[in-house]
Formats: sequence, C-alpha cells, structure tokens
Amino acid sequence: MDDREGVHDHGEGVTAGELLALATDIAREAGEMLLAKRPARPEVLATKSSPTDVVTALDKAAEELIRARIGQARPGDAVLGEEGGDTPGEGGARWIVDPIDGTVNFLYGLPDWAVSIGVEVDGEIVAGVVNNIPRGQLFSAAKGEGAWLDGERLWCNTGVPLDRALVATGFGYGADRRRVQAEVLAQVMPRIRDIRRSGSCAIDLCSVAAGRVDAYFERGTNYWDHAAGGLIAAEAGARIDGLYGRPVHPDLVMCAAPGLFEELHDLLAPLDPDHD
Ligand code: IPD
Ligand code: CA
Ligand code: CA
Repeated sequence: MDDREGVHDHGEGVTAGELLALATDIAREAGEMLLAKRPARPEVLATKSSPTDVVTALDKAAEELIRARIGQARPGDAVLGEEGGDTPGEGGARWIVDPIDGTVNFLYGLPDWAVSIGVEVDGEIVAGVVNNIPRGQLFSAAKGEGAWLDGERLWCNTGVPLDRALVATGFGYGADRRRVQAEVLAQVMPRIRDIRRSGSCAIDLCSVAAGRVDAYFERGTNYWDHAAGGLIAAEAGARIDGLYGRPVHPDLVMCAAPGLFEELHDLLAPLDPDHD
C-alpha cells in the first residue's frame, strides 16, 4: 500500500485506479459494439433458468469481446462471466463480468441495460464500472477513491426515513420465487414511499449511489449482477449487506445509506425474504 492519495497497490504493482481505467476502456468498447450491433428486434438465442430468462447472441458476443480484451491486457487474470462461467487464472486479479445486465430491457428496446465489470483482488472488489449505454451514463468507482458518474462525484441520499424511501427491487425468473417476492412486496409497499423496478440490478445499485432511489433490495442476484454496482454504491456512502449483518449473498442483497439500511433490514427480516 502506498500512502499517496489515490494510490493503492493491489498486487503485482497494479493499483485500483489502473484496473478501473482498463475496466472502463473495455466497458466502453463493449458498449459501443452493443449499441452498433443491436438490431431493432434482437432475437432470443436460448433460455436459461426459466422460459423468461433469456440470452441473445449479443450477450455472448459482448462477453467474448470483454474476455479477449482482459486476456490481451492482463493475461493470466481469472474471469467469472455470466455467459462463459468461471475461468481460473494465475494473475493478480479476477474479473467479474455481466456483459448485459438488463437483458430483458435490451430485448424490448428499453434504455436500462448496462455492461457491468468488477475487478476483484484478494477476494475484494477494488474497481467497478457500470456502463448504461442507451442513456450514455458511465458509473465507476475504485476502492477508497469515491464513486463517479462520468466526471461527477456521487453520494447516496442520507437521512431518509423508511416511510419516505423510494425503494428499487427486482424479481427472479422462477415462478415460485416470484410468488414469494410478491408476498414480501405486499408487506413492504404500505411502509415506504414507492417501489421502482428498473430491470437491472447493476443500474439499481448505481441509482442508490446517485440518489435516484433511496434503497434497493433483491433476492437471488448473482455476483456478476452486483459486483461493480455494489462498490459504486459503497463508495457513494451506502451500506450493502445481507440479512443479520451477513455479507451480500444470493439469498438477499440490501443497499441504502446507514440508518435507512437498518430500518429496511428490520422491516424485511421477519418477512423471511430469503426463502422460496
Ligand atoms: C437480471 C437483472 C434484473 C434482476 C435479475 C437479474 P440479467 O440480470 O439484474 O434486474 O432482477 O435478478 O438476473 O438477466 O438481465 O443479466
Ligand atoms: Ca445480470
Ligand atoms: Ca446478463
């Protein structure tokens, strides 16, 4: 570790800022490719966990591009990608990639989809970029160096009581899980300002960071959904954790400024939001 501001050595002499610069270049290139190649009506290539859990040819093409660029710049680094799975490596970093977060929005031509790239060193995300291409908004953070939307420093909303909170959430692709999620939501709705459902976990977390919503929670997200956005929200002052002080887990992710986080936790915990 170097004690100069903004210089944190993350193994092999690479800093979080350098990893972020590379992740940003790659997310920009993948985003430009997706925007250029997205047909007016993208076709579903395959389905995954359910008939509504879709993948398009461009999800795969974007991940291939991202993997190729990582391999060229940092051969030997590990990659975990939604479409290509886990590729172990001997390098100093592990890249956590969701080539399109918000694939259903991508399919329908709605503007909330993003390339999400997080970079992990020693088990911790130290750099993250969420490139919301249709809206031309690139969110980024390096650990200890703040969260940014293009050139603007981000801070989450603070001092918002639960009954005034605008809360983002999302739903899984399985019917049984959705039934439980709807039951939980029925208990949450009367206690908050309102709900928003963007269709992208990564963008929801960036929305917490930017104060566009006050909080976010969701059951069943994967590491690639929240790796980058989670760092961006944390660097904007939000707390991101699971139930009962546990770290973020597929069972449940909650994110809000301290204070609201605990209120949301205490509302959700008795509702068993982490069961199907
Ligand atoms: C999904 C989105 C969505 C969330 C789902 C995710 P995908 O990712 O992040 O907002 O509710 O849990 O699976 O399938 O668009 O990459
Ligand atoms: Ca995703
Ligand atoms: Ca995806």
